[in-house]
Amino acid sequence: MNTVLLLVSLLICASPLILGQIIPTRGGMSGNGTASLYWDCCTPPCADKNNVGYRLSTVQTCQKDGVTKNDRDDNIRAGCQPGVDAFQCNIMQPYVVADNVAFGWASAKLPDDFPQCCMCLVLSFKGKLAGKRLLIQNVNTEGYNDEASFKLLVPGGGVGDSGPGCMTQWNTTMDVWGNRTTGVENVEQCKLLPEALQPGCRFKFEFLEGIDNADVEYQEVYCPMNIVDKSNCDYMYE
Ligand SMILES: *[C@@H]1O[C@H](CO)[C@@H](O)[C@H](O)[C@H]1NC(C)=O
Ligand SMILES: *[C@@H]1O[C@H](CO)[C@@H](O)[C@H](O)[C@H]1NC(C)=O
Ligand SMILES: *[C@@H]1O[C@H](CO)[C@@H](O)[C@H](O)[C@H]1NC(C)=O
Repeated sequence: MNTVLLLVSLLICASPLILGQIIPTRGGMSGNGTASLYWDCCTPPCADKNNVGYRLSTVQTCQKDGVTKNDRDDNIRAGCQPGVDAFQCNIMQPYVVADNVAFGWASAKLPDDFPQCCMCLVLSFKGKLAGKRLLIQNVNTEGYNDEASFKLLVPGGGVGDSGPGCMTQWNTTMDVWGNRTTGVENVEQCKLLPEALQPGCRFKFEFLEGIDNADVEYQEVYCPMNIVDKSNCDYMYE
């Protein structure tokens, strides 16, 4: 068999692995921390041009439908601004890429340093979810903490103290989003969420097995293209 054919067939067999491939950065940040969930429908700090460094682009934001992209040159600020048509894009829900591996986004706080916008980290779960890994791209600039913490962007994960973001975006009552901290309680309640966000809500009960917080070990990794394509935000490694 010639080498090219062999390589091609290897690539085809290995493609799920390539998609789920997780490559640590050299000398990157690592440690232990905790993870909880949220989805407040508002634009994250890394969507705000004033918050990101010179090497970085901003996280894509969307209009009320969660699909139509805002122009980067619009003056997008972090959080839900009354009267401003800028919200979290639906595409930034977590998704499974391979057995026990998923990709998504999170608001990170790290003890080592302020987390950079759009850097990626892999979280290895401990306890009930041991063996599962979630690669996240950071959307937070406000984070410095003695202990590392990650707020995973998961619809149905609790709207936090953010006010009426989700009600404004989706014209819903507050109660469909569940408890402000812990979110919806079971997979049946996911059906009350806007249809576009239901896959991410089911992720909470399938991949994350219904937990609302967990201990994790984290390690900085290169961002997969698949993540960068969705958030439109690329972290340039030096
Ligand atoms: C996380 O904590 C465990 C147990 O204390 C320790 O062995 C491990 O080295 C820590 N991981 C990192 C990346 O610091
Ligand atoms: C919002 O929901 C209410 C109650 O279901 C409905 O009467 C109203 O027309 C909706 N508004 C918009 C802008 O969709
Ligand atoms: C929401 O969940 C938190 C943490 O479990 C709990 O302390 C609080 O009472 C709950 N709030 C409501 C309104 O149920």
